[in-house]
Amino acid sequence: MKESINNYEDLLEMLDALLREPAPFWNEFYTDRDKGVPFFSNKPDENLVSYFEKEWLRPGKVLELGCGPGRNALYFSELTCEVDAVDLSETSLKWATERAKEKGADIRFIQKNIFDLEIGEGSYDIVYDSGCFHHIAPHRKMSYIDLVSKALKPGGHFAITCFIEGGALGGADLSDWDVYRKRSLMGGLGFTEEKLRTIFKDFKELEIRKMNAAAPSSNVFGVNGLWTALFKKNK
Ligand SMILES: C[S@@+](CC[C@H](N)C(=O)[O-])C[C@H]1O[C@@H](n2cnc3c(N)ncnc32)[C@H](O)[C@@H]1O
Repeated sequence: MKESINNYEDLLEMLDALLREPAPFWNEFYTDRDKGVPFFSNKPDENLVSYFEKEWLRPGKVLELGCGPGRNALYFSELTCEVDAVDLSETSLKWATERAKEKGADIRFIQKNIFDLEIGEGSYDIVYDSGCFHHIAPHRKMSYIDLVSKALKPGGHFAITCFIEGGALGGADLSDWDVYRKRSLMGGLGFTEEKLRTIFKDFKELEIRKMNAAAPSSNVFGVNGLWTALFKKNK
């Protein structure tokens, strides 16, 4: 029955329909590769590199959510991780696939909405998200947490970078209800440290800190305005 709400999924889809459809926006976003978007540079996040340098993370099976043109997926792959990298944008994955081919990297790129993934329980050692979660609407937050939790093995790690509320990159200061009043995520939701702790309370917090800015000459990516956080799934 069209436009009838008979189950929880129907309700989520109705709420999705109040907001911008993501795929056309992101496909257009990646059409001009020279437009000077900082994360278009092919460098891994400085926090991600630091987790491996400190041996908080070790190579294993990785699921990347919203991988874009693949800069972090490539880094995982260089470290001998087995990588499944998901994004709903065809244009981003075209770029990511080209980058992987240039490096001879064997990465499984999956063009899907993360909520349409079929994932076996406990399939991954690491789930990574750089800049996807802050584009996820509040009504999908519970599904997102369930997805991360289901994907991870017991003791597996989840790491995320997301906008600081009112930070250098915007980071909209909106209540969850405001998103539906405005019918917009206003360029991406901002978070406080407390909000992140509350959302990911079922995981063990290993580190929450601001991303360190990196010089353009650096071989890592780092900008002001982002939180970086590393959590562990309980055994
Ligand atoms: C800010 S970009 C970050 C890209 C990449 N992680 C990076 O840092 O270079 C956010 C990405 O999330 C993807 N995305 C947003 N919502 C998504 C969803 N529901 N399912 C899959 N991908 C999604 C977008 O297509 C976009 O490529």
